[in-house]
Amino acid sequence: MKYTDLELTQDAMKQMGELALDAVIEHILGLPDAPRSELKDSVLKSRSLREPPPENGTDFPKLLDLLMNQVIPVSINAPHPSYIGYIPGGGLYPSAVADFISSAVNRFTGIWLAAPAAVRLEANVLEWFAGWMGYPESTRGILTSGGSLANFSAIVTARKHLLGDDISRGVIYASDQTHHSMMKAAMLAGIREENIRLLETDKAYRAVPEKFEKAITADQKKGLKPFLLISNAGTTNTGAVDPLNNMSEVARRFELWHHIDAAYGGFFNLCEKGRKKLSGIENSDSMILDPHKGLFVSYGTGSLLVKEGELLRKAHMLTADYLQDLPTPEGEVDPSLYSPELTRPYRGLRVWLPLKLYGIKAFRENIAEKLELTQWIYRRFCEEQGFECISPPDLSVIAFRYIPERGDADLFNRRLQKAINDSQKLFLSSTLLRGEFVIRICVLSFRTHKSEIEEAFDIIKFFAKQQDKE
Ligand SMILES: Cc1ncc(COP(=O)(O)O)c(C=O)c1O
Repeated sequence: MKYTDLELTQDAMKQMGELALDAVIEHILGLPDAPRSELKDSVLKSRSLREPPPENGTDFPKLLDLLMNQVIPVSINAPHPSYIGYIPGGGLYPSAVADFISSAVNRFTGIWLAAPAAVRLEANVLEWFAGWMGYPESTRGILTSGGSLANFSAIVTARKHLLGDDISRGVIYASDQTHHSMMKAAMLAGIREENIRLLETDKAYRAVPEKFEKAITADQKKGLKPFLLISNAGTTNTGAVDPLNNMSEVARRFELWHHIDAAYGGFFNLCEKGRKKLSGIENSDSMILDPHKGLFVSYGTGSLLVKEGELLRKAHMLTADYLQDLPTPEGEVDPSLYSPELTRPYRGLRVWLPLKLYGIKAFRENIAEKLELTQWIYRRFCEEQGFECISPPDLSVIAFRYIPERGDADLFNRRLQKAINDSQKLFLSSTLLRGEFVIRICVLSFRTHKSEIEEAFDIIKFFAKQQDKE
């Protein structure tokens, strides 16, 4: 039978790889001069790419050209050095190289025995994370596609441990600043919507432990079953860190599971100033950390750590007859027994390679620099008349508004954000705090340094003052 050989020749592989590599390097070198976002006519542009399945092939250079010129540029340019919107990641080049290697060699890392050495490297990464967070040896963890699924597995673990099969009375407590992935995870884990308490925060948008105590006591009296208390180590809105020690204390007193969402803020624990802010993180029962945020690796890498690792296994453990040839020896970790996934991408390598290549010191320095840059721009906002920061930054997020000479502040700031983003000189995201519109910045890209932050401040100030004069 006639068939197309899908295996490429040595020359064809090399040529394809070189073309892709050249295009990527050119793209990365061109980042500083590229637009910060390119979303004009994006509906038209994305619809124009719709097509039926291609019966016959197209040359690689043509496809690469399409990707680099018509697909990738139509976007918010998150890897740009000046990117301070939402929560930046950056995308370290070595993590992309790791992805290429792991996809090309395509080893199966869902089960220990299928690639024991590769799974060990991933286990190393998780053990390093646990050590940095002050978690003990009993900790087990998983690398996930992101914080959302890590939160999901955390809730499932706490639910299984404390509620068993009777989940209808289970109640969850979190502050009103908690990331929506937590509520989505609760919803997916079968927790009733009416049993999710989002409690009001203080002036600095941090959780108030006394409110948690009150709510838990009231629910216990009603015959409900409080089981999970959630803290934030860096909220998305303002970067606020909850009083972690006090929250642990409340959880301990009422025998609740204490989970910390440290997706954004956790890796600040690598540096001294960050450690002070995150004091108490080690007293929780579980936490999530997003390497695609604080370790700058490519999108698609989250993680969950559970202090009593056996509980993570009990919540996810299920096997089958057709896997009987693949036993896991004592002391080794079989990823599929700790997570909802069986077949999975080899995420460990995209974290392991950059950490080994640069060493942890490099990450400690970079993460510390982000805290300093945030303090610098915060001082500039405080000094400049008209700007108002919502609270001093705990980590590297600042939520701010410009209070105009006259007129409605919400409207003014909505227009200000739009004018800045339309200029393509900077891309900023916004949020609502107690119903008020605020603009926010988050300094977290490894490419963002002092010059980018100075420029960002000048751009924001220029547009604010210009609009205020109109
Ligand atoms: C604090 C926090 N938690 C959880 C998440 C969800 O993580 P992911 O987008 O990786 O699924 C985010 C995402 O930005 C976040 O900022």
